[in-house]
Amino acid sequence: MEIIIFPSEQATDSNGNLAGDAITKLLDRKPDAVLGLATGSSPLPIYRNLISRYRSGDISFAKARAFTLDEYVGLEPEHPERYANVIRSEFTAHVDFADDAVHGPNGLADDIPAACQSYEDAISDAGGVDLQILGIGTDGHIGFNEPGSSLASRTRIKTLTAQTRVDNARFFNDDLDQVPTQCLTQGLGTIMDARHLILVATGRSKAEAVHQLAEGAVSALGPATILQHHPHVTVLVDEAASGRLQLADYYRQTYAAKPTWQGL
Ligand code: F6R
Repeated sequence: MEIIIFPSEQATDSNGNLAGDAITKLLDRKPDAVLGLATGSSPLPIYRNLISRYRSGDISFAKARAFTLDEYVGLEPEHPERYANVIRSEFTAHVDFADDAVHGPNGLADDIPAACQSYEDAISDAGGVDLQILGIGTDGHIGFNEPGSSLASRTRIKTLTAQTRVDNARFFNDDLDQVPTQCLTQGLGTIMDARHLILVATGRSKAEAVHQLAEGAVSALGPATILQHHPHVTVLVDEAASGRLQLADYYRQTYAAKPTWQGL
């Protein structure tokens, strides 16, 4: 696992730019690459960076495919916080993704288990995710795999923890009652199948989750700790989110000494 710590004032631009470089290189090499997209606030600098590269003619998503991580259960089709709508308004509508190339779990399906299985099948039929963008919850979730999730889980329905609903109330006019209680999420096993994972975390509220992710014991209590078993994970954090890392100095030295040929 590579951990890159940026000074807080640079972190937004640097996170966006480094991940933007990695995605540009991937699409140069493989124009029909499969991207895994997260919602929430953490990936926004990456999406802004990619939109700006697209506008400059430096990147094209015309042949790319994308799969989102998760979706709330029960939000009506036009709800602005439905993740299918969020990912469109924050990112995919601003670049040249084909309309039918961006997929998400169907949180309005009548048959939820069948919808989850068909989502797994669609990812696998597309050849798997080449590069997955991730955020992390203050309780250590990735996707919406809350503490207690099976480390081998696949796409399924989950109940959001009270903490996650409080954290996400900011997207629902600060009204907790409007935050759905359930979601569909790619499982930890699904996420672990992606070939490269880039996780972004900023702010002091993420510091304990980031410490556990990189340095804690692998446990269902900290779902993101499963990433310690993945061969290619990049974690982009600001100073505040790195505040509890025991080996922070070593991560800084490693990044400073990184060979230029290596990339992310
Ligand atoms: C969203 C998702 C979640 C978020 C996490 C952090 O698709 O998968 O795991 O990444 O809740 O959210 P933010 O970035 O808003 O702090």
